[in-house]
Amino acid sequence: MCGIVGYIGKKDARSIILDGLQKLEYRGYDSAGVGLVGNGEVKIYKDKGRVAHLKELVDTSFETHVGIGHTRWATHGSPTKMNAHPHTSQSGRFTIVHNGVIENFRELKARYLSGYSFKSQTDTEVIANLLERYFNKYGSFDRAFSKTLSRLEGSFALLILDNTNLDTIYFAKNKTPLVVGIAEDGIVFGSDVIPLAGNAKKYVSLDDGVKGKATKDGVEFTDFVGLQEDIEYKELDITADELTKGSYPHFMLKEINEEPSVVRKLVQEYFDEDDIVINEKLLETIRNCDKINLVACGTSMHASYMAKYFFEKFCEIPTEVFCASELVYSTPLIKDNPCFIFLSQSGETADSIACMKKFNDQKFPIIAITNVPSSTMVSIADFHLDLHAGPEVAVASTKAYTAEVIVTCILAKAVRGKKTHLSYNLEKCAVAMEEVISKAPIIEMMAKQIMDASDVFFIGRGIDYWACLECSLKLKEVSYIHSEAFPSGELKHGTIALIEKGTPVITICTQEGTNPIVRNNLVETQARGSKPFVISTESLSVASDAIDIPNVNHYLSPLISVIVGQLLAYYVATLKGNDVDKPKNLAKSVTVE
Ligand code: AGP
Ligand code: GLU
Repeated sequence: MCGIVGYIGKKDARSIILDGLQKLEYRGYDSAGVGLVGNGEVKIYKDKGRVAHLKELVDTSFETHVGIGHTRWATHGSPTKMNAHPHTSQSGRFTIVHNGVIENFRELKARYLSGYSFKSQTDTEVIANLLERYFNKYGSFDRAFSKTLSRLEGSFALLILDNTNLDTIYFAKNKTPLVVGIAEDGIVFGSDVIPLAGNAKKYVSLDDGVKGKATKDGVEFTDFVGLQEDIEYKELDITADELTKGSYPHFMLKEINEEPSVVRKLVQEYFDEDDIVINEKLLETIRNCDKINLVACGTSMHASYMAKYFFEKFCEIPTEVFCASELVYSTPLIKDNPCFIFLSQSGETADSIACMKKFNDQKFPIIAITNVPSSTMVSIADFHLDLHAGPEVAVASTKAYTAEVIVTCILAKAVRGKKTHLSYNLEKCAVAMEEVISKAPIIEMMAKQIMDASDVFFIGRGIDYWACLECSLKLKEVSYIHSEAFPSGELKHGTIALIEKGTPVITICTQEGTNPIVRNNLVETQARGSKPFVISTESLSVASDAIDIPNVNHYLSPLISVIVGQLLAYYVATLKGNDVDKPKNLAKSVTVE
């Protein structure tokens, strides 16, 4: 994954682009670069490494109102300065940034560009040289651009500068996101709406197959052939404030603290008094299906287990959860009348998108539940439900999990169609979350006791086990401690062999029915030397438990217990001095399979 930002207008392009690239850092990247128009030419600055490093390289002595910027996640050629974007065509006339992959770049190079010399190993440079070749042939940018695009197979979001016409940014989009924001003073481009915040009031999220050109006075959209496209603008509802840490030291902590307000926002968005407001066609689609398939990755997959519970319990529709990266390659037997629900914070996860396309091609109904309405998944799906969690910047997902659990719960209740007290119960959850967050000092104490462990186990049963899966993932992601979650009854079938003196076993007990047996399983680990930490609801709590959490409806309890896990992971990571918002080896959105 990676990002694109561009600007043309009256303001300073350098700061809009560099700050915008920094706001897109959460998407993960290995190199960064900009092409800025100044003194009648395009000046290129690029290198591997962080945007902060790029900022130091960029000359600030010239005025610039037009530019394009890029963060690269190398797909073709290693992360080096030479392979970083922007790339130029052989003569230097065209400067280009590209997110995506040109699948037929080798063939294009061999077939059409044998006389051209290449400076990088990227697939992107082929686009720049193809454009130059066709420009030399036709003498018209528009024709050359259309011809170039007609030759490309794969995914691309492109911004292009022509050094004989420096008042224009050309753009095109296919299968990789690109949004265009409109402000009074100019046009701003981004891979998502985040760099637009504070710079534009309305935006359009481009469909595949759209290209165009922007000048400081406006923007034109056509299809790849050149026919005018009708464009629907949306109001930009993200403020620049939502993208800062405010008084919090890290985005992860800020986002955990935002969870109660996410709950309230969802009640506001999806309820009219006690009635749920969701598109009736969507509800009918689910009611008419005989099996729900939930597809997701990582944290979103953990939320899907809760969703399975809701759909089976409230709607009595058989439901299965699939890990997207497995489902693409080992598709199970699909009979009769299924529907597919995809959960994704970003809406850009490649594994999930690959499944979505496959089932969309087979004409099965697709519902996307995402936090980013301008995302690729939303553009493919038949229906979309918004998570309304606000921008999630920390790589480790927290508030999106909460939103995914709640939106699927609301959806399942709406499909069932009976009167519900869910809005009231969710309000209670918001208060319970605040109470848990106020117990942060207790959780920090727990963190101190596990920070030196080499392995941490989470155990629980049923709903509590699903919460354990998410708590364990959080701990792994940001603390780098090896951690696993197990159904507590499964321990004695093997894993208990790993328990050593002092191994922390974090146990979630929120369900009356399973509480005694889970505690028994914990005692079995204690007999082998484990260090127990019990997270229990007030009604089930005993004096030796590590922390008690408020009682809420039993099926909403992961909304509360997972917050303990999130905060625990956060404190262990910060105590260890880790980069908690950008943990090593991880990207916010995984856009490669
Ligand atoms: C969450 O903390 C992870 N970084 C990761 O597992 C994430 O949930 C997964 O990649 C799915 O992302 P999505 O929800 O944006 O599709
Ligand atoms: N495929 C291009 C490259 O490797 C673009 C990668 C990206 O999307 O950042 O340079």
